[in-house]
Amino acid sequence: MMMVMADQRHGEGEMEHSKKPFFFTSFNPFLFVLIFLPSLVLVSLVCKLDLEIPWTTGLDKVFSSFAPHLLDPAALDLKGHSFSSPIEGSQTTVPESKERKGKDATPGISRVEKYSMLEKIEEKLGRARAAIREAGRVRNLTSVHDDPDYVPRGPIYRNPNAFHRSYLEMERLLKIYIYKEGEPPMFHEGPCKSIYSTEGRFIHEMEKGNSYTTNDPDQALLYFLPFSVVNLVQYLYEPNSHDVNAIGVAVQDYINVISNKHLFWNRSLGADHFMLSCHDWGPRTTSYVPYLFNNSIRVLCNANVSEGFHPSKDASFPEIHLRTGEIDGLLGGLSPSRRPILAFFAGRLHGHIRYLLLQKWKEKDNDVVVYDELPSGVSYESMLKKSRFCLCPSGYEVASPRVVEAIYAECVPVLISESYVPPFSDVLNWNSFGVQIEVKDIGNIKEILRGISQSQYLRMQRRVKQVQRHFVINGTPKRYDAFHMILHSIWLRRLNVHIQD
Ligand SMILES: *[C@@H]1O[C@H](CO)[C@@H](O)[C@H](O)[C@H]1NC(C)=O
Ligand SMILES: *[C@@H]1O[C@H](CO)[C@@H](O)[C@H](O)[C@H]1NC(C)=O
Ligand SMILES: *[C@@H]1O[C@H](CO)[C@@H](O)[C@H](O)[C@H]1NC(C)=O
Ligand SMILES: *[C@@H]1O[C@H](CO)[C@@H](O)[C@H](O)[C@H]1NC(C)=O
Repeated sequence: MMMVMADQRHGEGEMEHSKKPFFFTSFNPFLFVLIFLPSLVLVSLVCKLDLEIPWTTGLDKVFSSFAPHLLDPAALDLKGHSFSSPIEGSQTTVPESKERKGKDATPGISRVEKYSMLEKIEEKLGRARAAIREAGRVRNLTSVHDDPDYVPRGPIYRNPNAFHRSYLEMERLLKIYIYKEGEPPMFHEGPCKSIYSTEGRFIHEMEKGNSYTTNDPDQALLYFLPFSVVNLVQYLYEPNSHDVNAIGVAVQDYINVISNKHLFWNRSLGADHFMLSCHDWGPRTTSYVPYLFNNSIRVLCNANVSEGFHPSKDASFPEIHLRTGEIDGLLGGLSPSRRPILAFFAGRLHGHIRYLLLQKWKEKDNDVVVYDELPSGVSYESMLKKSRFCLCPSGYEVASPRVVEAIYAECVPVLISESYVPPFSDVLNWNSFGVQIEVKDIGNIKEILRGISQSQYLRMQRRVKQVQRHFVINGTPKRYDAFHMILHSIWLRRLNVHIQD
């Protein structure tokens, strides 16, 4: 049943508000060579285009219930998850004070021989943790670190100084090794357009190589498993079969190859490895490899805590719907005083939350403007740009591309979801620039939003503009943009574990 629903969601790309055919609709092995390969070439090119995006820079109650608070000084005292050699496959939790420190060398053995590369890496990470924790004690909402590009400040951050310090430590230390095994397009490539664009964008950005990648796996503190669930589905899934098995088995085989050929997987039982997926089936795919599911860092759009998403280990991946592959024209909107619509939503009936929303509000109110299909001649983007609040209900899975669409259009996002962890909520204080409405309160949307005073609204809208830079995708990534924020989410989770040989 779930698979049927997820399968239908393949249509989401075009169903919402554009009439363009979705990136892929059905798989035919004969058409594949004719149609598919050329389109992949195109997609690859799109990924490599350097889009110069003009910058338009610029909820503690409910949101925080799932947020990991990694940047709260207390929480950064690491959980002390310790991963050692897999003799029993057991993970023990040790207090941080018992972590191996550089000083307790065995007499008679020189330091150089005693400490492995891994121990050196862990020692550097230990110092980074201490520095971030220390920075977290400065709590006056301003960073004290110099930065030529941007200084995080203000209530959009849980702790701006800790975030800034963590970001700078990441720039100094983060090294990622990308496994070379696997053939494109299922490995090393992904979609750079469509609702799943973040998956392909990230894979391409990594494969290109950058200051965070290394070709020496011994130098790495993280290992990337570069498979694309979207492309696996595209090539291995028999349409309408509702059988996800082939995809899971492909990932299982891949991890087998990796763990037989390299030492790193067994060393940490996968804890310093990460995968990412924007596809609804990302979580299901990882469930075929228990260590991947339970130990590895999974970066998922479908960040549903009711389906095993673990906020302190896994990272929420922003879903960014790039219809053309570009974000030109999406950024910016009217000033608050020129936004006549209180709240806006357009989208089809997908899942029970949207059912409740459409049933209550569809074409019934002048303030809460809700459509399942936009009237012809009405532009979706222009509606976002002239609404004060943009409704972002979950569909068949928890994430909604509307959250980032709203942020791009400088419209205050209203999340209507259950069990969803919004992206970067370890760093960002979603309550300061967004509203969360519980599903049971869908009937009260108008009262709730009207209850937000004008001055409070103006503050939130200003913060949406400030937080926008963290969600922007640049052709060539820029510091603090979506690409770097995703890396930072992964970095934080790596900081949270201690690996031993
Ligand atoms: C915040 O704290 C730093 C360091 O303690 C200090 O230099 C700065 O002036 C403070 N800023 C405000 C706005 O209080
Ligand atoms: C890792 O562990 C698996 C299963 O225990 C084993 O088959 C494999 O050979 C090990 N890999 C290496 C590189 O030793
Ligand atoms: C993850 O761990 C839990 C608890 O140990 C176990 O019940 C579950 O089956 C594991 N998940 C997977 C996908 O193996
Ligand atoms: C989240 O997971 C739960 C448990 O599987 C499921 O019932 C729920 O529908 C999921 N939420 C969405 C929006 O898919």
